[in-house]
Amino acid sequence: MVIFLKRTDTLDKYVIRGGRQLHGEVDISGAKNAAVAIIPAALMVKGVCRLENIPEISDTDKLLQILSRMGARVSYLGKNAVELDCTSVHMSDDIYDMTRTIRASYYLIGSMLGRFGEAKSTMPGGCNFGVRPIDQHIKGMVALGAEMDTGGGFITAKAKGGRLRGCKIFLDKVSVGATINVMLAATLAEGRTVIENVAREPHIVDLANFLNSMGADIRGAGTDVIKIRGVDSLHGGAYTLIPDQIEAGTYMAAVTATGGEIILNNVIPKHLECISAKLTEMGAEVEEYGDRVLVRRTQPLRHTNLKTRPYPGFPTDMQPQLSTVLCLADGVSVVTEGIWDNRYKYVNELRKMGAEIQVDGKTAIIEGPVQLRGAPVAACDLRAGAAMLIAGLVAEGETTIEDVIYIERGYQDFVGKLQRLGADVRVVSVPDEPCPAVPDVG
Ligand code: UD1
Repeated sequence: MVIFLKRTDTLDKYVIRGGRQLHGEVDISGAKNAAVAIIPAALMVKGVCRLENIPEISDTDKLLQILSRMGARVSYLGKNAVELDCTSVHMSDDIYDMTRTIRASYYLIGSMLGRFGEAKSTMPGGCNFGVRPIDQHIKGMVALGAEMDTGGGFITAKAKGGRLRGCKIFLDKVSVGATINVMLAATLAEGRTVIENVAREPHIVDLANFLNSMGADIRGAGTDVIKIRGVDSLHGGAYTLIPDQIEAGTYMAAVTATGGEIILNNVIPKHLECISAKLTEMGAEVEEYGDRVLVRRTQPLRHTNLKTRPYPGFPTDMQPQLSTVLCLADGVSVVTEGIWDNRYKYVNELRKMGAEIQVDGKTAIIEGPVQLRGAPVAACDLRAGAAMLIAGLVAEGETTIEDVIYIERGYQDFVGKLQRLGADVRVVSVPDEPCPAVPDVG
């Protein structure tokens, strides 16, 4: 069963002829990282839950399919709205082929523990940014009274006494995933939970707002301490997800690279400040109008330095796109990756297009400006794929991007949106080829 995508496993390629400026307006979709937390959270809701602004991407489609296999009624209402009724859900072994292909399925552990007092899912799969441990997720759930086992490729968990019990937890590392998973587990626990040293990303606030609108009692999301008073059950309701900070940032980076002027509709400018600040340093102009942002670039680009950090710092999920734009800037730029050990794999692909980048551990030294040249390249992960698209838009000649299945995990209608902004980009379908399993990242 596919919920709203016609195909979720394709071997398509993108073919881009570079050299056109971007002009026009683009509607930003709902936040992927909020959706992949809120859909599992809906498992805890007894009643009908209407979710608006769900991005139509393969990650959300797969999570909805997983809930459907667990007995949820899932209806796609059109225009990015989904109705979910998880009143009669049950544990199921029929989900593991799907949970293996999506890393965020580990959020089901927190929500199953809340809903059933027990949980079973697959260990999160492949990892392209280096080691991606889940020790902090486990530490939090053990503190809440879960017995955890991670043997044989599965995570299993059981709440002692059938229900988790609130407690105080200090996360050793600021982790988006651990913050979300522990928050989910504590929502239906008995008593009060305090989680300290939590991540503050906008999608954490969005998850808390969603859960609160369904009857949870969560305070402090967006600060570094979250306090949760456990409730006995969650009720149905309607909720609209926030717009995607990274999708918006990607279009801002794209127009900064190509030159031109675009308006992004349906954004929260506050979430984009860290990105706007860097693009402005590089020579773009960014103007805010309520829930719209205008980005214009008419001047030559200037070099800058950037370091990725947890929110409100510069997001690691924008690092590949910005590094690509910095190839076009005059002078030497230094990029430091502050979150992941190995997030420069895409550099080899960019070098095929003429980029001059030296990587030493977590630092990349970028020399510009270069005129990128079209070449056959691959998307090594979601945001790396977006970076390849940006490179293709400014390259001389034709660029072909393979493995776009990664890109389709996280960007709704990327090609269509770029075409409407004037880009010369098309999808070349490779029909009827079996698609390899995709290790999930991001
Ligand atoms: C989420 C995002 C991803 C983004 C990342 C950092 C989703 C679905 N994905 O990933 O796109 O790149 O935040 O903004 O929201 N760590 C531990 N132990 C743990 C958990 C994490 O040591 O138990 C470490 C990681 O190795 C990493 C750092 O903490 O170095 C941050 O990871 P985390 O914030 O958890 O990233 P994800 O939630 O996996």
